[in-house]
Amino acid sequence: MRVKLICATTTDGYIARHSTEITTWTKDLLLFKQQTMNKTVIMGSNTYNTLESELSGRNVIVVTRKDNPKTIIQNIAKKESECFIAGGGRTNSRFAAYITDVYLTPHPILFGKGIRLFYDETIKAKTKLVKAIPVPKTDGLFQYHFSVIK
Ligand SMILES: NC(=O)c1ccc[n+]([C@@H]2O[C@H](COP(=O)([O-])OP(=O)(O)OC[C@H]3O[C@@H](n4cnc5c(N)ncnc54)[C@H](OP(=O)(O)O)[C@@H]3O)[C@@H](O)[C@H]2O)c1
Repeated sequence: MRVKLICATTTDGYIARHSTEITTWTKDLLLFKQQTMNKTVIMGSNTYNTLESELSGRNVIVVTRKDNPKTIIQNIAKKESECFIAGGGRTNSRFAAYITDVYLTPHPILFGKGIRLFYDETIKAKTKLVKAIPVPKTDGLFQYHFSVIK
């Protein structure tokens, strides 16, 4: 089972200015759509509340603090070989132990403060760069695919 964290970040490692920010600065939505289509996408309630439209064609699981990440991953693994973790920072941390791959798109913007990729708990492991994927319709942005070496 591959559990893939997918996220756009600023150059200084933030994913949002604050928890209720509607993300308008990212340029990799088309790639996100291509990669997650027909897949299960897990996201936190704050992130879900910031969406301006539903993620059509994806099986979206919105998690709250009452949900057990292990149970959610185990249930998906019964039917699917991969799923995506799509933020925010708290949710990334809660699922950190299960993440096998990280898809990061650094953007040319600095926030100085805000929500980090991980709120607290992170994966303490090395990663290996698998591929740099050009982000369609952008001027030189890349998404970096890392695998987690456990
Ligand atoms: N740049 C990107 O690619 C990207 C991707 C995704 C999200 N974002 C941004 O990230 C921001 C949201 O991130 P976030 O970290 O605030 O939220 P989040 O991870 O989307 O949602 C918060 C999660 O943490 C839980 N939680 C809240 N307080 C908690 C506590 N004290 N103890 C345990 N669990 C707790 C919530 O449960 P309850 O529902 O029970 O409170 C919910 O499951 C938004 O601005 C969004 O736009 C950016």
